[in-house]
This record gives sequence, C-alpha cells and structure tokens, in this order.
Amino acid sequence: MTMTPLRAVKGMNDVLPDEIGQWHRVEAAFARTMALHRFFEVRTPYVEPTSLYVRTIGEVTDIVEKEMYSFTHHDEPLTLRPEGTAGAARAYVQHKVHNTEPVTRWYYAGPMFRAERPQRGRYRQFYQLGAEIFGDHGPACDAEMIDMLVGFLGSIGIRDVEVLVNSLGGAETRARYREALVTFLQPRTELLSETSQRRLSTNPLRILDSKSKQDQDALAGAPTIHDSFDDADRARFEDLQGHLRALGTPFRVDSNLVRGLDYYNHTIFELKGAGDKLGAGSTLVAGGRYNGMVEELGGPATPAIGFAAGLERLVIASEVAALRGAGAVFIAPLGKNAAPHALVLARELRRAGIACEADTRGGSLKNMLGRADKLGSALAVILGDDEIAANAVQVKDLAAQTQERIARDRVVEYVAARLAASTPALDGAT
Ligand code: HAM
Repeated sequence: MTMTPLRAVKGMNDVLPDEIGQWHRVEAAFARTMALHRFFEVRTPYVEPTSLYVRTIGEVTDIVEKEMYSFTHHDEPLTLRPEGTAGAARAYVQHKVHNTEPVTRWYYAGPMFRAERPQRGRYRQFYQLGAEIFGDHGPACDAEMIDMLVGFLGSIGIRDVEVLVNSLGGAETRARYREALVTFLQPRTELLSETSQRRLSTNPLRILDSKSKQDQDALAGAPTIHDSFDDADRARFEDLQGHLRALGTPFRVDSNLVRGLDYYNHTIFELKGAGDKLGAGSTLVAGGRYNGMVEELGGPATPAIGFAAGLERLVIASEVAALRGAGAVFIAPLGKNAAPHALVLARELRRAGIACEADTRGGSLKNMLGRADKLGSALAVILGDDEIAANAVQVKDLAAQTQERIARDRVVEYVAARLAASTPALDGAT
C-alpha cells in the first residue's frame, strides 16, 4: 500500500538552500540598517493571548474576523501572532521599559500567521522585518523612519519606490470623520457591496480600503479625513511633509489611505514597489503611529510608531543572484591519495576563516568542477598526484576560467587574497 505523500500546509512554504542566500542578504541589510539607526532586537513569543489582538488590531478587521489561527489550550484562548506590533507593545508594558528609558527603539524579524487567500507575495505563514519606536511624538521621528525605509530598500536594489503618506488625525478627528463618512454613505447604502454595508455600522473607515469597484464608485465625492482635521492635526501633517521635503524623501499624499488594523492614528504610510513582479501585493512596507496602544494595554500614555516589511516580497522585488556559494572554495582531490591532502588543506582554509567544501566522493575532475560551479564557488583547488609530488596545487578561478599553479605553503594566503578581491559586498549596495 502506498501512502499519499504529506505536503506542507497550504500557504506555508519551505525555503530551500537555493533560495535562502537571497533571504540572508535582505536580512543582513536590514540588521545593518537597524544597527546604524540604533534599534535593538526584541524577540517576543509566536503565541499570545487572543484578547491582545482583539483589543489592539480591532474586532471588526479582516485579521481578527477571519484570518487568525486561534485555539484554546487548557481553557486559555491563544493565537499565532498575525503581526508583531501588539506583542512588542505588550512586552514594553509588561517589562515597564518606559521606566528605564525615555525612547525605545526595537526591531524584530520572524514569522507571522494569517489565514489569507494565498497568492504571489501573500502567504499564510510569512516573515516580517519590523521595528517600533516608543516614546517619541514625531513628526520628525516619523519622517526619519520613512526616509530610513527608502534607504533600506535602495540598499537591496529596490528603487522606484512609491511612498504614500496620510494622517488619520487624533481620536476625536476619527470620530468626526466617521460620522461625516456615514452621513455621506447612508443614502448610497444600496450601492455598496455586502461587506461594506455591514461595515457602515461597524467600521466605516474600512470601506475606503475596499478593492471592489462597486464600493469605489459609491465613494466618489466622499469627504476625506482631511476635511475633519482640526488645526493641530493639520499642522502636524504639514510638519511631517516639511521634514520629508527637507530630507529629500519623495512621497505622495493619499488622503484615502487607511490601514487594515484599527490601532493607527496620525501618520500612516505605505511603500510600494516592483508592481510588475508582485501585482496586487506590491506593498512592501507599511506602518504608522499608534499612540493609544501602550495605554490600552495598561501602560502610561506613550506615543509610538512602527512599520513592518514582508520579507518574501522584498526577496521577490530585489531578486538578486543567489549567493549560496559566493566567496567559497571547492577542493577537488584527484585519486585516492589526494583525499587526506584535501582534508588537511580544507582544515587550514577554514581556520583562516575561508568557507570550503572538499569533494570526498572521488570521481572525475569534470564531475567535481561541475558541482563546484553549481554551488556558485568562486575558486576550485585541484589536487592530483602531480601536484602532491611537486608540493603544489592548481587554483582555478571558476568565473574567469583561468588556472594557476601555487606552492602548497602559499595556498591559504593566495586564496584569501583572491577572494577578498572578488567577494561582493554583503549589504548589496551597488
Ligand atoms: P501590515 O500592513 O498588516 O502591517 O503588514 C505589513 C507588511 O507585511 C505588508 O505590507 C506586507 O509586505 C507584509 N504582509 C502582510 N500580510 C502578508 C501576507 N499574508 N503574506 C506576505 N506578506 C504579508 C502590520 O503588520 C503592522 N504590524 C505594521 C506596523 C508596525 N505598524 C506599526 N508598527
């Protein structure tokens, strides 16, 4: 009897070694950006109490209504984290971090879980690179975050990024706007999609974000949040734009930009790019302010802002050549006698910090060089009976297809120098 082979859960992907080089490259560039901006890594659990997300993301949102992986364990309602902000804020409050530092800059990288309809760039387990700043009101800090993100995307080769910004104003502004929007839409209820009709009474701002043409038509001529701004909201939003202009960060105000999570106020933003490769999922990074969350979770009133980027989307958008074997050396021993010599040389190279692999299977030179090529190795060191007798090796540059005979006692020094001259910069700056 043959068994049906098991497959990964729909929307949850394996990342095999051939692809992981691109992930590492993006992760390394992100860690570097974070270090330069003095963010420190925080690791929070993958599982949190379900109520954390209901309270922060909001009951009437796609995530909480239908996308969370929730379960009950010993009567405790738990959820696989759909995002990182709520957990970071929970940890910030739980550890009373506000008592020890006025401004906190945290970053995180890891898997998130949402039961969405899978498509290119949208998965059920996906990875986010994110950061949060607690304790700075902005808007200078907001502008710096957006500018940092444009720089980060540039560092992994993603240019032509569209930066959309908007402000949702404070809580009172939101309440005023909600009323204005409902007043506008009520007589048009019949024109709205079924979901939006329901949202008209529960979460009307979400209607602005609807992808349905029917809803977008019904919204023609609707007031924008800017019509409900008070003087302070307007001044704040203008300040943000002033700072962005001073930094030379390109941006576009989109007065209909709203976010799928309820915790936002004031500044919100999205960075889009590589629409040709990602289609509808071209939002690479998204974020904004959530000044009420820390207090909502039992801490003192604390301003906060943050963002998260979809790592898979960054990998697709930056599409750099796989660097799996880059900078590595492949040692090809020819014949039985050569194997121990190859192992000794491999150990010497590794002690000098040079990554290498010795092919200990035996076999033809052609076969071994084929494998070295496939791995993306920079150099192959060939060791046959002639070389061993002469106390030398052949070093082959696999890209240039040139070969040189090098004395055995100079091999490590020579290989190190060759690699230093050819290894591409890890942060991908081009
Ligand atoms: P979000 O807009 O839900 O915001 O997600 C941020 C980014 O994560 C998206 O722009 C996208 O690149 C990626 N992403 C989201 N869902 C998926 C998915 N199903 N598959 C692949 N990628 C996805 C947040 O999560 C907020 N916590 C961001 C934030 C941090 N706001 C303040 N601080």
